[in-house]
Amino acid sequence: MGFVPTMGALHMGHASLIKRAARENEIVVVSILVNPTQFNKKADLHSYPRTLENDVIVAEKAGCTILFTPTPEDIYGGTPLAEQVDYGPITSAFEGLSRQGHFDGVVSVVDKLFRVVKPNRAYFGTKDLQQVAVVERMSNERHPKIQIVSCNLIRDENGLALSSRNTRLSDAGVVLAQNISQELQAVVDRVKDGLDVNDSVEIAKKNLKNVNGFELEYMSGVNYKTFSICTESTVWSHIVVAASVEGVRLIDNIEL
Ligand code: PAJ
Repeated sequence: MGFVPTMGALHMGHASLIKRAARENEIVVVSILVNPTQFNKKADLHSYPRTLENDVIVAEKAGCTILFTPTPEDIYGGTPLAEQVDYGPITSAFEGLSRQGHFDGVVSVVDKLFRVVKPNRAYFGTKDLQQVAVVERMSNERHPKIQIVSCNLIRDENGLALSSRNTRLSDAGVVLAQNISQELQAVVDRVKDGLDVNDSVEIAKKNLKNVNGFELEYMSGVNYKTFSICTESTVWSHIVVAASVEGVRLIDNIEL
């Protein structure tokens, strides 16, 4: 059995996970649950898109055999509360720092979903690179028999990483958001041409800070296994970035 946990508002990024799970498993369970404990901002939880009718179609077309749509109360057995987890930088740096308590919520819900669904394999996208590291750590400790499969990041034709949040952007916002993937690709291109990675990241940061209406939160080199804050670029495997456009928080990354 393959398992694809989601928060719904399914798009082709989610579909790629479901398709891969369908290729590798007899049964594919997709869960849809907008998990309240991983939102550090109430407004973000309430404005999160909910599109169940369309989700059913996308999931089925991609090869889902069982769609699981529990309520938060079903999964938490009452009021949704998250336990606190400390896995070092993978839970406290970058996304963990920007979104206090976010990974507590992710760990809690994925752990509980694993207990209920009991899959052989579970599929996660590298769109949320740090989440993959967090889930792998949790699963190694608590569900060593479940294989965590990390899947490629899917982009639209203009390079924008697919995200349920993109639907909240205006047309102009979409164009602004495209700066993220363009600058990530530019970092990699300059490195291929021989520029030092640190210098290449600095150029991209400067460019992004100069874009009107674009709020850069962080852009940094990281090692995808440790997420420790380290300026020594030889250990870096990826460049990660978080930014806001029109009040919508977007994350992206690229492999070096
Ligand atoms: P959600 O944002 O719905 O994403 C569900 C899964 O789809 C995650 O593994 C995510 O990384 C993957 N995904 C989203 N956009 C993608 C893209 N453009 N390319 C590839 N994969 C993509 O992540 C969550 O939900 C939640 O935190 C969850 C794990 C379900 C726990 O609540």
